[in-house]
Amino acid sequence: MRSLLIGSILLATAATVPAADKALISVDVSKPGAKIDRNIFGQFAEHLGHGIYEGIWVGPDSKIPNTRGIRNDVVTALRALKMPNVRWPGGCFADEYHWRKGVGPFDKRTVTLNPNWGGVTEPNAFGTHEFLDFVEQTGSEAYLSINVGSGTPQEAAEWLEYLTTNQPTTLGKERAANGHPAPYKIAFLGIGNESWACGGNMTADYYLSQLKIYSRFVRNYNPAQETKEQMLKIAVGPGDAGTEWTDTIMKAFKGHDWSWDINGLSLHSYTVVKWPPAYASVGFGTKEYSQILKSTLDMESQVTKQSAVMDKYDPEKKVALVVDEWGAWYAPLPGSNPGFLVQQNSMRDAILASLNLNIFARHADRVRMANIAQMINVLQAMIVTDKEKMILTPTYHVYRMYVPFQDATLVPVSYDAGSYKYGDISLPRVDAMAAKDASGKLWLAVTNLDPEKPVEIEAELAGVTIKSASGETLTAPKVDSVNSFEAPNAVTPKAAAVKVQGGKLTLTAEPKSVTVLALGQ
Ligand code: AHR
Repeated sequence: MRSLLIGSILLATAATVPAADKALISVDVSKPGAKIDRNIFGQFAEHLGHGIYEGIWVGPDSKIPNTRGIRNDVVTALRALKMPNVRWPGGCFADEYHWRKGVGPFDKRTVTLNPNWGGVTEPNAFGTHEFLDFVEQTGSEAYLSINVGSGTPQEAAEWLEYLTTNQPTTLGKERAANGHPAPYKIAFLGIGNESWACGGNMTADYYLSQLKIYSRFVRNYNPAQETKEQMLKIAVGPGDAGTEWTDTIMKAFKGHDWSWDINGLSLHSYTVVKWPPAYASVGFGTKEYSQILKSTLDMESQVTKQSAVMDKYDPEKKVALVVDEWGAWYAPLPGSNPGFLVQQNSMRDAILASLNLNIFARHADRVRMANIAQMINVLQAMIVTDKEKMILTPTYHVYRMYVPFQDATLVPVSYDAGSYKYGDISLPRVDAMAAKDASGKLWLAVTNLDPEKPVEIEAELAGVTIKSASGETLTAPKVDSVNSFEAPNAVTPKAAAVKVQGGKLTLTAEPKSVTVLALGQ
């Protein structure tokens, strides 16, 4: 990075508004980078708390407007995100999920338990067909996580045959009788979940032997996926600790023969600071804001560390690093069931989302998929529901503003980020990312992490002349501002303070804000 210009203006423009700092961002359009795979904007929906039941599924007889039991308001909101994929049914839940209990007539479905998440009953009303209906209604792709912990290769293989064969097998005919004669498309297959912990506390070597078996026998028979749009297989990868797991799997991948294969390696990395999660999701100040953002920036070293091991065995980057669980994990909201992982979503989370998405984009050559945890009512959610009511969170707005970056080509940016300091915590003041979409339009995302001061941004573009710019800014009065059922639009995007004069772009990036701009040439 080239240090260009950043300094303090000595005079504040108004007594109560702190003086803005300046930053120059240089965008070099002549050196395009990797494609930002749209799958980094993926979602995760687990049978956990009200993530599925109430969040997605209300049942066909509900008074809440629905299509075949799936909430219409939620589908409309998610369609606006152009959600590329949804991971289901877990998480830890997936390693105790038995698909047969969730197919067939509703009155014949088995009621089971959800021991991982509050020990509540699991009605199995939202099963295979309901999930794939949801995927279709939202215009997304299915990322199925299969049961390696307490299932068998045969159970998983039969699930895939049930889903994907177009032959008149008994399972294929059963699928048709259950309402779907055509084979389903399964875009992604996750082979286990956190097999080093809730997925069975396996060693890397033991998991590897399981992986080879599942990879070999859990086949996708959909003729439409035979030669193109093939199902991508994602192996369990590391949690936050160390690189030994990655080393074991990737070393085996390097030497693998025709009998097994993987296309992705998962990474789970939450922003949690300490375990069990203790930080409040509302009612905090700039200290906790700074601590959480400092912690979330560790994603950069996590990705870099795991990518370096992958590069050693897979320099052609055939295997994607799939960050299929990430996001902020705070203390449960007082009064909520602790097993339901209910937390609020504030302006801090919007900043956190933008920082992580920018990290994934900068590593676009290796990070080709990511899934924020979790989509609705759980952890860092996009949407919160309460019976017939629904609110969009600050994180939702960031995802909506970032839609233009889906499948866009990364364009290098350089800037001196400056710093914001809280006690001994130092954060970059500015974070930025740019890309060019398929139509040739340029997009610039700018995050001002400073909770108090605006930053006057000047953007210099090499290789193009900018004639206009417009976009949206997401900010809020306080770092812990949230949307609630009483004030659903307290944190909502507004027009960005941007102008272009003589080919020069200037933006006032408000304190604690995320801005996305379209640059007209
Ligand atoms: O997202 C909640 C849980 O976190 C998931 O079920 C598990 O995979 C992870 O530990």
